[in-house]
Amino acid sequence: MGSAWHAMSEHDTSEITVDVHLDPADWSRHLAEETALGLVDRPPWTPPVWFYDEVGSRLFDRITRLDEYYPTRAERSILAAHADAIAARTGATTLIELGSGTSDKTTLLLDALRDHGTLERIVPFDVSEAVLRSAAATLAETYPDVDVHAVVGDFHEHLGHIPSHGRRLLAFLGSTIGNLDPDQRREFLRRVRHSLDGDGWFLLGTDLVKDRTRLVRAYDDDSGVTAAFNLNALHVMNRELGADFDVDAWRHRAVFDEEHQRIEMHVVAVTDQTVSFATLDRTLTVEAGGHLRTEISAKFTEPQVRAELAGAGFAVDASWTDDNGDFLLTLARPA
Ligand code: AVJ
Repeated sequence: MGSAWHAMSEHDTSEITVDVHLDPADWSRHLAEETALGLVDRPPWTPPVWFYDEVGSRLFDRITRLDEYYPTRAERSILAAHADAIAARTGATTLIELGSGTSDKTTLLLDALRDHGTLERIVPFDVSEAVLRSAAATLAETYPDVDVHAVVGDFHEHLGHIPSHGRRLLAFLGSTIGNLDPDQRREFLRRVRHSLDGDGWFLLGTDLVKDRTRLVRAYDDDSGVTAAFNLNALHVMNRELGADFDVDAWRHRAVFDEEHQRIEMHVVAVTDQTVSFATLDRTLTVEAGGHLRTEISAKFTEPQVRAELAGAGFAVDASWTDDNGDFLLTLARPA
C-alpha cells in the first residue's frame, strides 16, 4: 500500500503527509480474528481496542482527569520537569509518537524540541486515519514550521514504514505498553529497536507497581466512569461484531493480579449468560459470577523496565519518576 496525500497550508511552511499502510478491511479482519481467539481461551478475553469508539474515547478522556487515576498527571509532571533535558540529550529532529492523538503531554515534548531549535518533523502513528488526519491538521497549525508526516499503521506490522531520516525520537507514552503481556512486549520492543536501526532514541512511559488499594481505585473510581468505560466495550462489540450482550446483566470489576503484577479489568456476569457473536460465528458462555477479561494493564518496576529494554537491545540513557514515585519515564537508545 502506501497511498499518500499532500497539502500545503496557505500561510506557513508546514507540509502534511498522510501515509496509509493499513487497509480498514484488513484491520477489521485482524481484530475479529484476535477477538475470536480470546473468546475460546479460559478465562475468555477480548482486546482493549473495543473500548475506543467515540463514546469510549470521551470516557477515557474523563478517566485521565479523575482524582483516582494518577498515571496521566504523573507522566505529565515528569515531562513538564524533564522535556528540556530530553530535547538537549537527544537533539531530535523527528518526533514519532505511537498511538498518537494531540495529547498535551506530547505538546510538552514538541515545545521543548522546538525551543531547542532542532524540531523539523512530527510523525504521529495510529491505526485510525480519521484520528490522524485531525491530529495532523492541529499539529500543523500549532507548529507552522514543522512538517507533519502521519502514518496510518498497526505497530505490530508497520513500524518499518516510519520515516528514516533525521535524528529520531520515538515516544510511546501513557503506559500503553501495559496492555501487552510479556511475550507481546518482547516482540514489540524488538520491532521498535529494529525500526530505529542503530540510531535514534526511544522514550517509554510505564506505570509503576504500588500499593494495591491505590492501583485498584485507579481502575474502579467512585464516580463510575471506568465502569461505564468498561461496559461500553460490550455495546461496541454488539455493534461491530454483531454480538448480543445484555449489557445490564454484566458489571464492572478491576482486580490486581499479584502473580502477573497487573491490573485486570473484567466484566462479571450477574446471571448465566450466553452471548453470540454473529460476525465471528462464535458463542460465549459465562456462568453467573464468571467473567470476561477486557483488559490487562501491567505495572512495572524500574529494574524490570531496564531489563526488558536490555533484552530488546536498548541501553537506558536516563529515567525519571514523578515526586510520588508513581510513574516512570525512560529514555533509551540502541545498545
Ligand atoms: C490507556 C492502556 C494506559 O491501562 O491505564 C484506563 C487504559 N483502562 N482505565 C491504562 C485504562 C482503564 C489505560 N491505558
